Amino acid sequence: MPATTRPAVVLGLESSCDDTAAAVVRRAGDGSGEILSNVVIGQADLHAAYGGVVPEVAARAHAEMLDIAAERALDGAGLSLSDIGGVAVTAGPGLVGGLFAGVMTARGIAAGAGLPLYGINHLAGHALSPRLTDGIAFPYVLLLASGGHCQILLVEGPEAFTRLGGTIDDAPGEAFDKVARLMGLPQPGGPAVEAEAASGDPSGVELPRPLLERPGCDMSFSGLKTAVSRARDGAAASAGGLTAGLRRNLCAAFQRAVTEILSVKCARALDAARERLGRRPRLAVAGGVAANREIRSALREVDAGMVAPPPDLCTDNGAMIAWAALERIAAGAVPDASVAVRPRWPLDSASPPMLGAGKRGAKA
Ligand code: KG4
Ligand code: ZN
Repeated sequence: MPATTRPAVVLGLESSCDDTAAAVVRRAGDGSGEILSNVVIGQADLHAAYGGVVPEVAARAHAEMLDIAAERALDGAGLSLSDIGGVAVTAGPGLVGGLFAGVMTARGIAAGAGLPLYGINHLAGHALSPRLTDGIAFPYVLLLASGGHCQILLVEGPEAFTRLGGTIDDAPGEAFDKVARLMGLPQPGGPAVEAEAASGDPSGVELPRPLLERPGCDMSFSGLKTAVSRARDGAAASAGGLTAGLRRNLCAAFQRAVTEILSVKCARALDAARERLGRRPRLAVAGGVAANREIRSALREVDAGMVAPPPDLCTDNGAMIAWAALERIAAGAVPDASVAVRPRWPLDSASPPMLGAGKRGAKA
């Protein structure tokens, strides 16, 4: 069947970190998207005892669950493989074992059903998701802030990404998770720290804002976490231990520091994009950290029209992978039956690779 007569419905698979995800998405003739099903099978309980994602455990669980996730996604959409037009899979960046499991599963499904296959960059999936959920027009500036990524991108087309900035060490979600550990709070750390911060006093502890004054949009969160550790030890020594009040204040001060860093750097990125485009584009956010209320409202002050997908589409999911393929197909992309795994795959090949190792390994 020639590609043009295939239905614009794609099955997307995602397994680059600790969520096994599959979804079916349709793209209408007017360019709008519709999520027909969206299945995410998390692995949090498998990794809980280790205090972080164990790549081998993740890979094995993905290999076991991918077929099940794909089947559930098709069932949920009320479709069979003969009704869809293509298969999309995250080919990178991410943990190599999980990527292999996803790519092998997708290759098998595509070959078995005679469907075209598309290898998708996970970061492109996140970056394009505000178009699926809110139909935001190109160009826009995207802040992607999660446990594994931190980038500010200018998005000008389905394959046109310019990195305006990123972390030089930890991702912000990773910093939330580490601070939660320092405070004896459960994982994932973001929601736990946010809950503590709600009744804390952010001015109760002074914390640095690394790289804030440095020109450009690069960020650093690792020194902030170290400063929280020092402040905890110092204050706990004088108070005879980590009191509940001290914990709340430390969480509030940390959250305030992350909020300030992200909003100052996003404002600067919008200015840089305006210079390039001749007009100020809109801001969009994605990634688990975008669920944080203080961060969301600070970013709304940076751009009142900010677009933020609902939390389940901000975090890792298969719908964004299917959607990225649909956007590429509409732009004339050629399928690739022998999609290769790319654990490191920068979105913007013109930018130098970033340093730092988060829960996905080295940053893309
Ligand atoms: O996007 P995501 O589900 O997975 C990846 O890391 O790709 O993001 C998870 C990260 C975790 O580090 C988690 O602590 C953080 O997002 N997070 C939050 C909040 N909810 C999740 N960080 C701050 N505030 C939150 N409410
Ligand atoms: Zn992600």
